[in-house]
Amino acid sequence: MSPVRALVRKATTADADALAGLCDELGYASTVSQVRDRLSLLDDLERTLLVAEVEGGLVGFVDVHVQRVVEADPYAEVGGLVVKAGRRGEGLGTAMLAAAAEWGRGRGLTVMWIRANLTREGVHDFYPAVGCRRVKDQRVYEYPL
Ligand SMILES: CC(C)(COP(=O)(O)OP(=O)(O)OC[C@H]1O[C@@H](n2cnc3c(N)ncnc32)[C@H](O)[C@@H]1OP(=O)(O)O)[C@@H](O)C(=O)NCCC(=O)NCCS
Repeated sequence: MSPVRALVRKATTADADALAGLCDELGYASTVSQVRDRLSLLDDLERTLLVAEVEGGLVGFVDVHVQRVVEADPYAEVGGLVVKAGRRGEGLGTAMLAAAAEWGRGRGLTVMWIRANLTREGVHDFYPAVGCRRVKDQRVYEYPL
């Protein structure tokens, strides 16, 4: 890996355009207007959305939140992580995950969960390479509302 100089910072509403493109790359096609609406998450103290910027352009995002359930102490959970195609393998995913972990530590959390579809290529080499431990495999069900 040849790490590139990147700024990892909190997203702002001005990032909506670039974020919509990155959502598409993650496999969740989203319009700029949908993304702009969803950016209300930035007001939630228990969530954050961090972006990586290289030479003034947005090249990735990670979103992370505090997960609260009755059966476990609060933990951090990553909602999405993506690096723009063409900028992968430059250490940006590592840098964003480290920044998300730092955010969780700052809230007194001691572990961060990340769920990754088994079909995602490369990802299952990435997470162990950056220090994650594989805990379990599971299926995800959707209940229509
Ligand atoms: C997964 C992803 C975020 C990784 O980001 P990245 O910036 O490319 O990763 P890094 O450059 O920080 O890689 C760190 C290490 O992980 C490993 N790694 C990363 N991508 C890999 C791949 N495709 N195959 C094998 N190993 C990989 C390598 O060991 C690498 O270190 P090295 O370059 O010194 O060998 C990025 O590939 C991506 O956006 N993929 C598409 C979206 C996605 O699947 N997101 C995850 C959803 S759960």
